[in-house]
Amino acid sequence: MTRSKRRAGRRHPLATAALLALGLVFTGGAYAALSTGTVAQAEVDPNSQQTIEEGKKLFQANCATCHGLEAQGTDNGPSLIGVGAASVDFQVGTGRMPMQMQGPQAQQKPVQFTDEQVKQLAYYVASLGPGPEIPSDHLVNGGGDAANGAELFRINCAMCHNVAGAGGALTEGKFAPPLTDVSGVHIYEAMVTGPQNMPVFNDLNISPEDKRDVITYLKYVQDNRSPGGFELGSLGPVAEGLFIWIFGLGAIVAITVWITAKSN
Ligand code: HEC
Ligand code: HEC
Repeated sequence: MTRSKRRAGRRHPLATAALLALGLVFTGGAYAALSTGTVAQAEVDPNSQQTIEEGKKLFQANCATCHGLEAQGTDNGPSLIGVGAASVDFQVGTGRMPMQMQGPQAQQKPVQFTDEQVKQLAYYVASLGPGPEIPSDHLVNGGGDAANGAELFRINCAMCHNVAGAGGALTEGKFAPPLTDVSGVHIYEAMVTGPQNMPVFNDLNISPEDKRDVITYLKYVQDNRSPGGFELGSLGPVAEGLFIWIFGLGAIVAITVWITAKSN
């Protein structure tokens, strides 16, 4: 009697493990749900007074020391009047802003705001003066012509970013970053705003549809990158190494045998 009571009171040895597993599944699921949620644009109304007020508050608390209380610019940062929502979405959404350290080029850090806050900041700045807008979904989803994009990329971007988008050094400690891990929206925004030493590619240089193709090409490169020989079911290096061992060494042995056989 007492024994079974104690048994009932005690947790099954597997309970902890099961609980852990359940917790992991839930956090994993929640994370997946959230992270796919952020891919879709946050529902922030660009024109509502509330959005702009929230953005202004965030701006004054986080950006005004360098960019001025009305984004008019100071000795520590340029005026943001007329840079557009795209520039803010790019700079804050890639973790470049708020800048922490003066240097040749703003460093990329973990993004410090939620997607909603980034949009609020962006629309606040956009309300101060017209500038490039955040591109619509269909331009950045990678559904364009990759071959045309590759050609455009080779002509316009490869001299700084490398043909495969691997990035490259520029002068004076500046660099064109690798484009292997950047979203379609941010690629589009980089083109229309030209951060730092990068030129602006306005719609006359490269039309919106052509920009879409460039993004399609870069997404193709991103998806077909193969760290560790992905094509061979992640066994690439082993399989290839084995191939060399067996056939390469086999060939050498065969040649050696043949040479010695011949000289006899
Ligand atoms: C420590 C100073 C500092 C802080 C804080 C800062 N910035 Fe900047 N910002 C700069 C400087 C300097 C530049 C120009 C150099 C560069 O782009 O690397 C810049 C550039 C920018 C640009 C690009 C402007 C253009 O011409 O396209 C945007 C947009 C921007 N900042 C937004 C923000 C926002 C939004 C915040 C707050 C979340 C912020 N910054 C906080 C210093 C700062
Ligand atoms: C003259 C050199 C130059 C050319 C040409 C150039 N870029 Fe850039 N690009 C840069 C530099 C420099 C930066 C980094 C700016 C910064 O960090 O503020 C950059 C940044 C970017 C980023 C942001 C990457 C990230 O990780 O956030 C993207 C995307 C990008 N470029 C795409 C392009 C595309 C697409 C083209 C062609 C249409 C192009 N660039 C042409 C120099 C260049």
